[in-house]
Amino acid sequence: MDLAAAEPAWREDAATEIRQLGDAVRELETALIPHGLHVVGEPPSAAARAELLDAAGIDDPQRRADLDALLAADHELPALLHALDAGYVRPAPGGDVLRNPDVLPTGRNIHGFDPFRIPSAFALHDGARQADRLIARHRAESDGLPETVAMVLWGSDNLKSEGGPIAQALWLLGAEPRHDSYGRLCGAQLVPLERLGRPRIDVVVTLSGIFRDLLPMQTRLLAEAAFLAASADEPEAHNFVRKHALAYQREHGGDLERAALRVFGNTDGAYGSNVNHLVDGGAWNDEDELADAFVRRKGFAYGVTGKPERQDGVLASVLAGVDVAYQNLDSIELGVTTVDHYFDTLGGVCRAVRRARGAAASVYIGDQTRGDGAVRTLAEQVTLETHTRALNPKWYEALLEHGYEGVRHIEACVTNTFGWSATTGQVAPWVYQQLTETYVLDENMRRRLAALNPTATAKLANRLIEAHERRYWSPDAAMLDELQRAGAELEDRIEGIGEGVAA
Ligand code: BEZ
Ligand code: MG
Repeated sequence: MDLAAAEPAWREDAATEIRQLGDAVRELETALIPHGLHVVGEPPSAAARAELLDAAGIDDPQRRADLDALLAADHELPALLHALDAGYVRPAPGGDVLRNPDVLPTGRNIHGFDPFRIPSAFALHDGARQADRLIARHRAESDGLPETVAMVLWGSDNLKSEGGPIAQALWLLGAEPRHDSYGRLCGAQLVPLERLGRPRIDVVVTLSGIFRDLLPMQTRLLAEAAFLAASADEPEAHNFVRKHALAYQREHGGDLERAALRVFGNTDGAYGSNVNHLVDGGAWNDEDELADAFVRRKGFAYGVTGKPERQDGVLASVLAGVDVAYQNLDSIELGVTTVDHYFDTLGGVCRAVRRARGAAASVYIGDQTRGDGAVRTLAEQVTLETHTRALNPKWYEALLEHGYEGVRHIEACVTNTFGWSATTGQVAPWVYQQLTETYVLDENMRRRLAALNPTATAKLANRLIEAHERRYWSPDAAMLDELQRAGAELEDRIEGIGEGVAA
């Protein structure tokens, strides 16, 4: 399963390697995956409900019975029809039932939050721990403290976690929210260096459009935190925000407020970086075009006034110093290979960093989907998802039960994996080889996919060929020949050539 390198061969004293392999197998064994798609109006089966409640760790029989009853009944279609009749739909917290069983019953109006209480006290406490864990992991990999972290913030995961990722960014900077006498968020303040116990790390945040729309106060909070850090009268060796802002000023002039801009996103009314659309269409020549798209779309700075302003110069300068790029996952429903937005945002900023600094940053994923959380390298996360999802019969068979749409999801997973190659180069060649063997070279599987959704199947095969053409993997001649022949057959089928004969 490519869980360990074949070379060099292990000797008698391979205790460490054996332990690492054991850990890798245990991680696969305990990983959770979504089981097919949700169909509105169809409650999950008794077996699926039991698995969900097991995964949520709910053992109390009474509780368990109550939640099972809530999962077993359809609350969604009635609520939807009621809402369409202009009826009142009760509010409820949103999120993943694994993290918060109070989201049941579904079919309610997912209110998010009180904007004056994000990040919450819990999020601040946990965010600091998760940020420390990121630093520790990077230190273990690289022997050093990062000077600049590029962090991607989304709206949805911050709402579901009361602002956990915002709190992580604040803790890296060594800042915290300031509250008024009613306990309402009213700005940022610095955490003293003695309490922080390490230098302030520079953080460049790229916001999703949804974050910008939902969390304007938090956007200003982050901008103020960066500005306060840059303004603090502290030695540069203990304050990388100030170090970098002063260096920018020395080189380019201007005021400190501009040199301390660290919150970037789309302009008003725009969403996404377009990197996903470029990758999907295949109409790009070299990876720097992806970096261009990202910077063009996300080059708007949000300063302490909250008004977006194009600031390509500051962005390019900060990106050139990024050591670490990072984003959190908030629910097992979505992995980095499930939707194209992760490589659009985190992948996009990685590519922009690589161009600005001439070398790749380390990329990490904060897995906040269960328990205490974990930090993985992006390569580890892609490997884990490939083993537990894309190559796992439990995952793909559940999707294939949804027919046409299931095949589209499988193709999307392959394209999203490819998106990580295009933006970060962190997908191992064996991933493409095994995807090819599983979905294209296995004739039975290829026929099943093509019968359900010929267009998505041809797209999947062509994506694997494109991955080879872009040098993300190199199949041997026989495998390439088989893949190309299958791709051509699938194309013919869409065009109605040789129907009933070909795959
Ligand atoms: C967000 O919540 O910010 C988000 C959700 C899905 C895709 C992209 C962004
Ligand atoms: Mg979209």
